[in-house]
Amino acid sequence: MVTLRYHGHSCWELYDGNHRILIDPFFTGNEHTDVDPGSFDRLDGIVVTHGHADHIGDCVAIAKNSGALIVANFEIANYLGAKGVTTHPLHIGGGNDFVFGHVKLTIAHHGSTGPEGESLGAPAGAIVTMDGKKVYHAGDTGLFLDMKLIAEMNGPLDVALLPIGDNFTMGVDDAVKATQFLAAKMNIPMHYNTWPPIKADPDSFVEKVKNRGGEAVVMSAGDTYDIP
Ligand code: NI
Ligand code: MN
Repeated sequence: MVTLRYHGHSCWELYDGNHRILIDPFFTGNEHTDVDPGSFDRLDGIVVTHGHADHIGDCVAIAKNSGALIVANFEIANYLGAKGVTTHPLHIGGGNDFVFGHVKLTIAHHGSTGPEGESLGAPAGAIVTMDGKKVYHAGDTGLFLDMKLIAEMNGPLDVALLPIGDNFTMGVDDAVKATQFLAAKMNIPMHYNTWPPIKADPDSFVEKVKNRGGEAVVMSAGDTYDIP
């Protein structure tokens, strides 16, 4: 069984009873969570979708503390590798098997400068497969029709983690359309209500997804979801 734990914003933890990973490990400055990034002393991997500070987050400190392998695009992998952590570069459309599971990067329509404005390649989403469960983390992105292709080539997806905060990414209505393209068994909103520009109502997302015959649930930071 794979358990998803939400840490707010776009930060997720996946645990299959054996291996544990983080996606977009933003803790310091993330008002949704009071989890200490230093608490991750046993961690196998960290997936980083793009260079923005609210996604790169605490990945260097956590990787140094835990020995976790950082998986990201080639430019981010090089940038973080120079900071003394172990990385594996992927790029869009490519995937690889790791000790904890499989990661494949997808397109995302967004930016990917680093915390100091470094040029860190193209932003990505990620399809993470652990213990047979497929989780699509969209990263930060606008809506795109190729989500249909992501579903066709990689599905069926068990969970889609989708930004709904608008302003920098899809808003609620575009994210609802994304759920129709992706056809994941469960849809969970993220990247909202962290700052005023990304204020959104996650309950309206859930209602609209259900009205279209899909499944969705709102998670708060600290909540867990066992993928059936
Ligand atoms: Ni971003
Ligand atoms: Mn972001």
